[in-house]
Amino acid sequence: MKPMLASARRLGYAVGAFNIVDYNSARAVVRAAEELRAPVILQTSVKTVKFWGAPTIGSWLRELAATSPVPVAVHLDHCTTLEVIVQCIAAGWTSVMIDASDKPFEENLALTKKVLEITESVGVGVEAELGAIGGVEDDKQVADEDAHLVDPDKAMAFCTLPLAVFAPAIGTAHGLYKSAPKIAFDRLEALGRRTPMPFALHGGTGLSDEVFQRCIRLGCAKVNISTQLKHDFIDGFVEHHLDKKEYEPLKPLRAQFDRVKQQVSQKIRLFGGEGRFEDCQSCP
Ligand code: 13P
Repeated sequence: MKPMLASARRLGYAVGAFNIVDYNSARAVVRAAEELRAPVILQTSVKTVKFWGAPTIGSWLRELAATSPVPVAVHLDHCTTLEVIVQCIAAGWTSVMIDASDKPFEENLALTKKVLEITESVGVGVEAELGAIGGVEDDKQVADEDAHLVDPDKAMAFCTLPLAVFAPAIGTAHGLYKSAPKIAFDRLEALGRRTPMPFALHGGTGLSDEVFQRCIRLGCAKVNISTQLKHDFIDGFVEHHLDKKEYEPLKPLRAQFDRVKQQVSQKIRLFGGEGRFEDCQSCP
């Protein structure tokens, strides 16, 4: 993921990081990327890893990534424990996020460095977060009043580490927005001027095209989409079944695949990833 996102930041587009939940959703993401000749990130929550078991879901994702003609990173989202990080690295993930953002600054930094020590020798990329992104992601819930924005000065301590990507809290939130979020473009811009580090934009569901594009211009090279895909995953299956009232599971699974793929294609185009599959020659 590191060379993939370094290229994206340098060239001014973003790679979509799509939270998948099973083989059908993962396959839909990879096929969308292949059709558009785009790099892509298959992202798993810790909850999804625990549901299937790391070796099982890891083998599906590795197979999809290894046999695809486009660069596919396999990334672990918002992980708070070294134990799960080590399990996923052993099962073939190519990058991991250590989320110690609810810990005091020094502790967050120290844990991030510890993960970098673990990953250094195996060539696995690392994402870290500073500030607190609101909303619910996995088992973590950050109330609106507890969400706080990144401090660009403190963020520089992270941006001088050999991270693949850094996630600054800039006012976005996981889940559905109750009202239009107030994005701290000024902080993103201040940080982007000081470092070539690619940034991750969390809470992608429900942001406007203008917000995506402005954040990408200011240095966001990875955009996370989860809630929207969960809706497409469920609605694609259920609507097909309610419409046709038949019990051939492969048909609603096909409808689900098509719906997820269509959503991913739209986002890849919006983020500027189309045709970018050759930008990063050394991608895994
Ligand atoms: P959404 O669920 O809002 O799309 O956020 C995804 C995300 O940031 C995962 O880390």
